[in-house]
Amino acid sequence: MSGLPRRVVLIGAAVAPVAACSAANEKHNRAPSAPAAGQVLAPVAEIPVGSGTIVGDTIVTQPATGVFHGFVARCTHAGCVLTEVIDAQIVCPCHGSKFDLDGAVVRGPATQPLVPVEVSVKGTSVVAG
Ligand code: FES
Repeated sequence: MSGLPRRVVLIGAAVAPVAACSAANEKHNRAPSAPAAGQVLAPVAEIPVGSGTIVGDTIVTQPATGVFHGFVARCTHAGCVLTEVIDAQIVCPCHGSKFDLDGAVVRGPATQPLVPVEVSVKGTSVVAG
């Protein structure tokens, strides 16, 4: 590092985590689209009890039989797209935040719960609204 001015090194250190986050999560900068009211998100049978499913920009969870929640599939820490529900937790691939099936923070760095999306059951499907 002796050839680089101190200021360049500090700026590089600050930019590197952001670049790594973006590279790991290519949809990072795209605004999520909310489902239209009444839009079918998934058949009830495809949302496991005690887990959840990610449908486009929406996460649908079923923490208990017949209880469904919807959330915007974006991490509240820095906006990365949430892509996995593992062992009853929604996991952010960028910095490792975890949320429970009710959207509450289980592990940071996120400090805010997931943004809710209203969902309901209509016939055999979970729909927006
Ligand atoms: Fe940082 Fe999700 S964006 S933990």
